[in-house]
Amino acid sequence: MKIRKACALAALKDVCCYFTQNHGQVAVFDATNTTRERREVILTFAKENGYKVFFIESLCDDPEIIAENIKQVKLSSPDYVDCDKEEAVTDFLKRIDCYKLAYVPLDDDKDRNLSYIKIFNVGSRYLVNQVQDHIQSRIVYYLMNIHVTPRTIYLCRHGESELNILGRIGGDSGLSPQGKKFAAALGTYIRGQYILDLKIWTSHMRRTIQTAEAIGVPYEQWKALNEIDAGVCEEMMYEEIQDHFPEEFALRDQDKYRYRYPKGESYEDLVQRLEPVIMELERQENVLVICHQAVMRCLLAYFLDKSADELPYLKCPLHTVMKLTPVAYGCDVESIFLKVEAVNTHRDRPVNVDVDRDPEDALLTVPEHN
Ligand code: F6P
Repeated sequence: MKIRKACALAALKDVCCYFTQNHGQVAVFDATNTTRERREVILTFAKENGYKVFFIESLCDDPEIIAENIKQVKLSSPDYVDCDKEEAVTDFLKRIDCYKLAYVPLDDDKDRNLSYIKIFNVGSRYLVNQVQDHIQSRIVYYLMNIHVTPRTIYLCRHGESELNILGRIGGDSGLSPQGKKFAAALGTYIRGQYILDLKIWTSHMRRTIQTAEAIGVPYEQWKALNEIDAGVCEEMMYEEIQDHFPEEFALRDQDKYRYRYPKGESYEDLVQRLEPVIMELERQENVLVICHQAVMRCLLAYFLDKSADELPYLKCPLHTVMKLTPVAYGCDVESIFLKVEAVNTHRDRPVNVDVDRDPEDALLTVPEHN
């Protein structure tokens, strides 16, 4: 108990640090199996520091869900290394019995002044109490939309486009001959997966629509899935951007996530634009999203929990499907190249990002093109 208390206090200090030194706005504090006293500690800490608290309580009494959760999450814990599966399950069930002795659920009456959501049996019922602000209502909305039904999310880019071949970014060109081959290969691949009730989403851009058309099943178009708007740089080659706007080009390399193209967008903008898409992806079951390089990076970063720093450099090559299978606490990912050659459109961050660097340094990582 002493060790647990020390850990809990250390975690609270960590939260404090995150708010004050790192300018954090929302912190998630795992108070699993907490006692009423420990809840009081959190509330006092929050009150003293001027923070709001929103409790999320997940209650489950469905033996099937519990068994499945133990298998998916607990068996891989260090406690059960080299342990027989059934023995581990029995042991963990005993542990839950011990938790039951200590845990005091939020009480409808005694805790009526607290802000919280109670989730029963992973979403078969909810109880929401005293939502105080916008962030709390977003948390409630999010929690009410996620689910644990097994499913697969397929992400890919459109087939190679006419502008991809020329090394030009953005625009709204159609598919190249290789791009059309990919669209056909994607159709064959998807049919071979025998996916139940598959939804297909595209952007409003010709290259994604043409790709979906080849699959031969209905699809839905989302404007929010359109490629990042490169503003004044639309349809330019990276070499031309360096030539016309060398400073802009360097600034983007310095902070690719936050850099906003003049009259265009940043990755940060894109992440915001994609929020409704992500929310709907959470609600849905099997979905294939046919999108674009920057958009796919954002979606992948969300599911694979990548940082803002890594996001703009995630590798999303053309003609490659990423198959995501949500599992407890994350996502398994498999990358499937459909064996139709395409140009490379990935430009790594160059070492020299100074505004007054030589053009040669700036263009060092530009991929080859016609
Ligand atoms: O080059 C293809 C493309 O989809 C462009 O339309 C887009 O501007 C670019 O990729 C995004 O990649 P990056 O952010 O690495 O320039």
